[in-house]
Amino acid sequence: MSTELTESAVPPPTNPPTDPSAESPSAPSRRTFIATTTAVGGAVVAGGLVAGSALPGATEAAAAEAPPSSRVSLTVNGERHTVTVDNRTSLLDLLREHLDLPGSKKGCNAGACGACTVLVGGRRVNSCLTLAVRLDGADVTTIEGLADGDQLHPLQKAFIEEDAFQCGYCTPGQIMSGVGCIQEGHAGSKDEIREWMSGNLCRCGCYVKIVRAVEQTAHGK
Ligand code: FES
Ligand code: FES
Repeated sequence: MSTELTESAVPPPTNPPTDPSAESPSAPSRRTFIATTTAVGGAVVAGGLVAGSALPGATEAAAAEAPPSSRVSLTVNGERHTVTVDNRTSLLDLLREHLDLPGSKKGCNAGACGACTVLVGGRRVNSCLTLAVRLDGADVTTIEGLADGDQLHPLQKAFIEEDAFQCGYCTPGQIMSGVGCIQEGHAGSKDEIREWMSGNLCRCGCYVKIVRAVEQTAHGK
């Protein structure tokens, strides 16, 4: 193989600029690159980079600042809502910050405490770990939707009768989890209730009374 061929196949090395001021003022930053790639597609950005031309300033700034968002329609406590949210919004934040339903509590915001428990399609979920945009068409029940007007749900009554709370911060999640636990058929005994509600923590240590309230409701005592 000739030296001539090898040399012509390898482009001459180019050194990255060491002085940022030496870059073109219109060169996209890493931040704008990522934002515009997401917003308008890689081909446009790649073309801009290769050709050395940049997006117009206003368009570039708008693309960098606007996070990807989606429109989602879901039913919460029997009421239909359609909202446009940042794709990263959790169901918990959608409920608390967009729909004015602060009953579901933010404890750990990481799936470890159960304070944010709600029902989606009748099943328990940690709303802090559930992306709102995945729930298009879903049916969500929160603590605000449990009572029938002034008529409390039997488990809400049982919590009051059993004095199953102190500070009350975990209580909405405990009650929603208890409702789910009973609906799932996992409330046959105290041990079973403890097992199936082990994801709901109570810093005040009201576990004995919480289990009693769930058992009482499950067995109509
Ligand atoms: S706030 Fe969701 S599990 Fe703790
Ligand atoms: S009642 Fe206080 S954390 Fe459960």
